[in-house]
Amino acid sequence: MITDTHAHLNDEMFDDDLKDVINRAKVQGVSRIIVIGMDNETSKKAIEIASAHEGLYATAGIHPGYVDDDQDMGGIKDLIKTHQVVGVGETGLDLHWRKDNLDLQKEVFLAQIKLSIEFDLPLVIHTRSSFEEAYQMLLPFKGKVKGVFHCFSSTLEDAKRAVNLGFYIGIDGPVTYKKSDVIRSIVEDIPMDRLLVETDSPYLAPQAYRGKRNEPSYLVDVIDVIAKIKGMTTEAIARITTQNADTLFRLGGKDR
Ligand code: NI
Repeated sequence: MITDTHAHLNDEMFDDDLKDVINRAKVQGVSRIIVIGMDNETSKKAIEIASAHEGLYATAGIHPGYVDDDQDMGGIKDLIKTHQVVGVGETGLDLHWRKDNLDLQKEVFLAQIKLSIEFDLPLVIHTRSSFEEAYQMLLPFKGKVKGVFHCFSSTLEDAKRAVNLGFYIGIDGPVTYKKSDVIRSIVEDIPMDRLLVETDSPYLAPQAYRGKRNEPSYLVDVIDVIAKIKGMTTEAIARITTQNADTLFRLGGKDR
């Protein structure tokens, strides 16, 4: 069994053929998928999709690219309480797209760090050119916060710091790209019990599908590359990353 820990199946690009996408994933063994919210509306839709399909879960949160001056954090808090929600996010900081609203991004990220502690749910963190800033915000909560740095895009050194903070590292399609030596060095060095696999569908399709819409069934390409780097079987990588997803997101736990 393979677990895709990060897919935006709530994106309108999946509106027409969601059932087929989920079925193709299941054929490839990707039988559990976490559907990721990016604002109030997409978090709601993630919950709806998760309620309608077995093996699908949701997160609720505000992506740094969607922060807003009159953010409805109360609405997010209500969504977090729903049964299908297994994590808070996608949240974090993004200094690639926008640098001018960093204070607001930090405020909304901090509110979600606090919600994750209050509800004992992992954070799904997005950083882009902002690992250091996000790390410094999480550091005071060391021991209380947990989660994943999704689609990790910083250095090996930073990946080690994230792991020391108690976080997991999310590996996606870019590990299959020619230029991604840094990501492959992270896969090589970071212990297997700290890695998660994810697609970030519909974005970041693996090399064989590059430029096309990504979907959870393509996750097998990511697993193949990790297996080669680690010198393990694809079955072992699937099993261990699924166990890691279970541990972090408590999928199928008693309270679900
Ligand atoms: Ni995402």
